[in-house]
Amino acid sequence: MPLVTMKEILVPARQNKYGVGAFEFWSLDSAQAVVEAAAEQNMPVILQAGKLECDFAGGIKNLSRIAKMVADEASIPVALHLDHAEEYDFILSAIDAGFTSVMIDASAKPYEENVALTQKVVAAAKPAGITVEAELGRLVGNEGNISVDSREAAQTDPADAKRFVEETGIDALAVAIGTVHGFYQFEPKINIERLKAIADVVSIPLVLHGGSGTPDYKVQEAIENGIAKVNICTEFVAAFGKQYTSTQSAEGFKYSIPSLFGPSKEAGKALAASKIKLFSLK
Ligand code: 13P
Repeated sequence: MPLVTMKEILVPARQNKYGVGAFEFWSLDSAQAVVEAAAEQNMPVILQAGKLECDFAGGIKNLSRIAKMVADEASIPVALHLDHAEEYDFILSAIDAGFTSVMIDASAKPYEENVALTQKVVAAAKPAGITVEAELGRLVGNEGNISVDSREAAQTDPADAKRFVEETGIDALAVAIGTVHGFYQFEPKINIERLKAIADVVSIPLVLHGGSGTPDYKVQEAIENGIAKVNICTEFVAAFGKQYTSTQSAEGFKYSIPSLFGPSKEAGKALAASKIKLFSLK
């Protein structure tokens, strides 16, 4: 079916307390791995890409073409989302390329500047029927071209979150509650009490960034308390990468396209499937 907006997928997820997986993709096989895994469980899914993946794929239009092709063949709803965009013009290029959802990440800016830039994006995206995600608070770690160390990290304030959503008119809010981008370098401490306080005053779908390595029971607790979208990048990429290494080191391995690339796509698909099952709370 044609690509759908992220809002269509996330509003019922928040209402019915299940989570939707959002996976970074960079190629045809990574997109197929995600969508095939979701289709086998009859769950909606989000294909997402940031600047890094768009550049790697030779431009934002190429990823849009891939996502449309894969979604058209799928029996489940698929949204195409721009992850962590900091530049207004880059967001316009994603809308122009056919993305059905965009994230404006102005979380590094002071509150008022974050509001102003997010409002500008909403004004451009809403009339075109495009979903807007924005972020308040900061996660530790590296995400594409964005790097945040622990001194800059700040968890989302519930009162600010309420005001931010009212002032901007966004469709989904990314919250900082202790997850990190990339693998954890310390024991994860996920602040469910803070999430509950945010969810009490913000009714739109909430987004958990830094899903990789977050303990399963914590992710499920977060979904039960307002998280509707869970972002997974590092673990998905690692599933492909680790499989390439072990495939080639097997005794008697002979190079062919299916023998090298096939197992990695299957490993990515298995990782996506395990996350989608976890998030659906089945
Ligand atoms: P991880 O790489 O930690 O899974 O985070 C992904 C993410 O939040 C993308 O925005």
